[in-house]
Order: sequence, then C-alpha cells, then structure tokens
Amino acid sequence: MLKQYLLTPGPTPVPERIMLAMARPIVHHRMPAFTAIFNEAAEGLKWLFQTSQPVLQLAGSGTLAMEAAVVNTMKRGDKALCVVGGKFGERWRNICKAFGIEFVELTVEWGKAIDPQAVKAALDADSKITAVFSQANESSTGVRHPVEEIAKLTASRDGVINVVDGVSAVGAFDLPMDRAGFDILITGSQKALMLPPGQAYIALSDKAWKRTESADLPRFYGDLKRERKAQSGGETAWTPAVSLTVGLVEALRMLKEEGLEQIFARHDKLARATRASMEALGCKLFAPGAPSPTVTSVWGPEGIDTGKIVKHLRDKYGVSITGGQDAVKGKILRVAHLGYFGTFDILTSVTALEMSLADLGVPVKLGAGTAAAQAVLAAGPPSK
Ligand SMILES: Cc1ncc(COP(=O)(O)O)c(C=O)c1O
Repeated sequence: MLKQYLLTPGPTPVPERIMLAMARPIVHHRMPAFTAIFNEAAEGLKWLFQTSQPVLQLAGSGTLAMEAAVVNTMKRGDKALCVVGGKFGERWRNICKAFGIEFVELTVEWGKAIDPQAVKAALDADSKITAVFSQANESSTGVRHPVEEIAKLTASRDGVINVVDGVSAVGAFDLPMDRAGFDILITGSQKALMLPPGQAYIALSDKAWKRTESADLPRFYGDLKRERKAQSGGETAWTPAVSLTVGLVEALRMLKEEGLEQIFARHDKLARATRASMEALGCKLFAPGAPSPTVTSVWGPEGIDTGKIVKHLRDKYGVSITGGQDAVKGKILRVAHLGYFGTFDILTSVTALEMSLADLGVPVKLGAGTAAAQAVLAAGPPSK
C-alpha cells in the first residue's frame, strides 16, 4: 500500500468530521429539515465573508460564481478591467470575452502583485470601465494581490464595482467584505472550507445588487436575483448539492470553533514555515514580494523539470503537491497550506520534496528544509 497525501491547493483535504456528516441520508431540499440546514449554512457564510449581505450558495465550481459575477452585473457596451497575472486572472478575461464584454487587460508579470496605481491609471484613462476583476490570491503563481487597495479606488467611483475572486483566499486570510468594501466576493467549497469540490459561494454589495437591475447578458442557471429570492426563503432556485450543504454546516462549525483570528494565524504560520523550508532547500521564492498565505510557489532547481519532481513525489511517496501551469509549467513548484492543513502536513510536503530531490540527483542536504520548517512550526502556542 502506498498511503496517499492530498496536499494540493484545491481540492484540499476533507476532515473526517465533515465526511461523516456528509454520509448521512439525503434530505429533500424542499422540506423543513433541509431549510434548517440551509439557513445555518447561510448564516455561517455571512460570518466567514464578514458581511451583512446574503452569501448565495450555488451548485457548481468556483468558475460558475465567476461567470455569475460577470453576467449579473455587466451590460452590453460596458468595459471590464481584468487584472491578469496568472491562470485565474486569465479566466476573468476569458469569461468577459465569451459574453462579448470588451475588456482592458492589466497584465502583471507572473509572480508579481498588481500595483494599485496601475489600476488607478487605467480607471482614470477610460471612463467606459465599469468593473475591476481580480484575485485576492492568484493560486497559479502564489501571489496575494492588494484587493483592499483596489476596493478603495472603486469606492469613490459610482459607476465602477470591484469583483474579488477569493476562491483560494476566503477563510484563510482576512478579507472582510463589508469593511474592505468589496462589491463581489467569491469562494468555492474545495479550498479553505475543507469540503469536496462542487459548491460556490458569492456575495454582492448594495452597489453590485443595483447593477443586477440593468445587467443584460444572457443568464439562467446563474441568475443571482432569482437565487437571492429563493435563498431568502431557505431554499435554492434549483436542486442544491444537498450533501455538500450538510458538510458546509459542519465545516463552518469547525471554523467557528477555531475562530477567524486563529484561522488566519494558522495559515500565516504554515506559510512562513513553508517559505523558510524552501529557502533552506535552495529553492528561490517565485513571489517574494507578495507571497500567498495559502500556497507557496518556488522556482525548481536548475536543469530539472518540476513536473518530474511532482510526479516523483506522487508515484514514489504518495504525496500530491502541484507544479506550474502554462508560462511556468515545468519551472515552479507549489506547496499548499490551505484549509485543513496543520504542522505535519507541511512537514510531509517538505520532507517528501527533500527526499525526491535527493532521489533525482539534486544536491540537497536531507533534513535542511524540514529543520527550517520545524523551527517556525514549533514556535509559539499550539493551535486551538
Ligand atoms: C483563485 C481561483 N479562482 C478560481 C478558481 C476556479 O475554481 P473552480 O476550479 O472551482 O471552478 C480556482 C480554482 O483552483 C482558483 O484557485
């Protein structure tokens, strides 16, 4: 037997407590038993998003919520400003393109964060722009973008909303929707919420809800006004992912027991430990200027395809981490610390990486990365 360790930035590991909750018999989604479950999940999501707005639950992956954000707030003739510094920034642009929305692409070098001044300059230069689309955390590069600064720029512009893809961020680091002034915030089930893939969550500010009145792009399954009406009555417009909703209640209970501050501190500590270990291993950080609290990206060792390293970890040690995509395919490694991750998940990734590098003939000192991670992980009080 080769024991498997799923240590990727999504899907992330699912705690046994959640799996057991999801194993319960299915309840009917138009009956009171489900309404009680649904309403607890809805309240918990408001807590997680730090908003007084309803957080809509959609049956679909994060991309469904991204598409819903575009089609429910944009109208023909509007222009989008898309921050593109990785695969998921490209997705905003591609969704706009698919629906015939003109866009300005604000390209950021992969591994770098967007400069809010560039957003300001783009907004100042083009009054046709009505929305800024970005990622709180660009999972493909391990970069944290300054979305709070972008929100400040759009707050004073009546005709512009900011849309934040928080798929690999919400519930891992602080993104207080109302306080920061995000107009749309999105996440998915398979990341910090520690659930299997299949649900997406989206909240809109009053400013964004107003835009749904004039939005004129085709939409049906992802019609958010229809969802809001149904969900305010404790059910969804269409058949929901019932088991995931049950799991979501359990996940939110677990997160509440830990507390937001503790959750953010845990992710921060795991991120610091991972960065320290990678540097000790001689792997340079790919995003040193804006490192992500949920996934650490590093350059692979000279002369070796990182895809080969990822495969070796998986095939020899049963440890799944991720490599790079597109422009950085074969060049970077991504080590996750997102969701149901603790001390020994980091040590597993780091140790397996050390062993794999040594197996593949890379000159590493076995234990160097592990020791660097241990030093960070052992410091401070235990997690709650
Ligand atoms: C930042 C970010 N945005 C969007 C998505 C897309 O979500 P999904 O794959 O659930 O459609 C992901 C998934 O990994 C992501 O990491």
